[in-house]
Amino acid sequence: MTDGSVHEGGSVHEGGFVYEALPMRVVFGRGSLARLPEEAERTGARRILVLSTPQQRDLAARVAGLLGPRAVGVFDQARMHVPVETVAAAEAVADGLAADGCVAAGGGSTIGLSKALALRRGLPVVAVPTTYAGSEMTPIWGLTENGRKTTGRDPVVLPRGVVYDPDLTMTLPAAVSVTSGVNAIAHAVEALYAPDGSPVVAAMAEQGVRDLAAALPSLAADTGDTSDTGDTAGREAALRGAWLCGACLGATTMSLHHKLCHVLGGMLNLPHAETHAVMLPHVAAYNLPAAPGADAALRRALGAYDAAAALAALATGPGVPGGLRELGVAEADLDRVADEVLAAPYANPRPVNRPELAALLRAAWTGSTPGGTS
Ligand SMILES: NC(=O)c1ccc[n+]([C@@H]2O[C@H](COP(=O)([O-])OP(=O)(O)OC[C@H]3O[C@@H](n4cnc5c(N)ncnc54)[C@H](O)[C@@H]3O)[C@@H](O)[C@H]2O)c1
Repeated sequence: MTDGSVHEGGSVHEGGFVYEALPMRVVFGRGSLARLPEEAERTGARRILVLSTPQQRDLAARVAGLLGPRAVGVFDQARMHVPVETVAAAEAVADGLAADGCVAAGGGSTIGLSKALALRRGLPVVAVPTTYAGSEMTPIWGLTENGRKTTGRDPVVLPRGVVYDPDLTMTLPAAVSVTSGVNAIAHAVEALYAPDGSPVVAAMAEQGVRDLAAALPSLAADTGDTSDTGDTAGREAALRGAWLCGACLGATTMSLHHKLCHVLGGMLNLPHAETHAVMLPHVAAYNLPAAPGADAALRRALGAYDAAAALAALATGPGVPGGLRELGVAEADLDRVADEVLAAPYANPRPVNRPELAALLRAAWTGSTPGGTS
């Protein structure tokens, strides 16, 4: 995930900040998928490859249909964590079709693949996100080779355009809505205490959490009946929140939570959003006492006295894992995770030492009440 090395620079005085706006265009709203051809046109691409996972190939076909002759093919083999083998296969297809641009229709895995094509082939990307992961808002790329994920930042991978259509998220299963939504909230939580935060980022973070926190309880109870449009407002609020939280991820350096999830995901091949959902309340309980400004913003956004407890309450529901143990992590793995986290720590508002990290990981493993570590 976000590597801690990219926002380096001389320090600014207390209260000062540096903010760099990222050049991106966002089209948001129900039915906005219809505007995709216009957004693709703006990139100048004439031969577009549409990307998706195998599960979302129907969406990819729909997108290709919308683009008309401008779409020269579909590659529907996107996989979690962007394996280099998948990138090589996509490159071969892109080269064979002489593609000069791509549209990524899906979640972070599909958008991650489009970023790899942007990085290695210079293809401009238009993203159509269908989860709340937020990759579309960042210049962060990731590639996995031999079980090891490498990440970096490069402006070339930032999508030129992003089309957020809440209608495309109606098919998200309830548990994925919750875990993906908490994944988004995690970006905002860490942006609020980031070493390179700013008032702009803080405002986006607080509003993003507010939108998601308002929406997730009803989405958690979603029956999956897509003929029921009662959740439309919730879906819209959640996607708007995901956009804001993703923008926070793109603008700041992440801390302990993202480091832990990066190590857990890479070392133990854990599912991305679920890992975030399990870890966030525990990291919040650990960090927020050392980050009063972030704590206050989160309490306002969550409408709660105890932000970590409110996050724990949000990160629950049928199908949502209650602890790392439920994700198949063995207790013996926790030591190795702690070793790797401590070997190359990210900046963090509260110093991280071995006994406290071990206690945090154990609480997350059992799924006990967050804050037993402080
Ligand atoms: N580079 C970045 O800035 C960044 C940011 C966040 C996440 N990521 C990466 O993104 C990946 C995780 O992304 P994710 O959590 O979005 O999962 P994902 O993209 O792997 O999607 C999970 C599953 O849900 C399906 N799906 C997606 N949208 C759906 C919808 N609307 N309806 C039904 N099914 C749908 C997908 O096809 C897939 O099978 C990880 O590899 C993570 O590292 C990168």
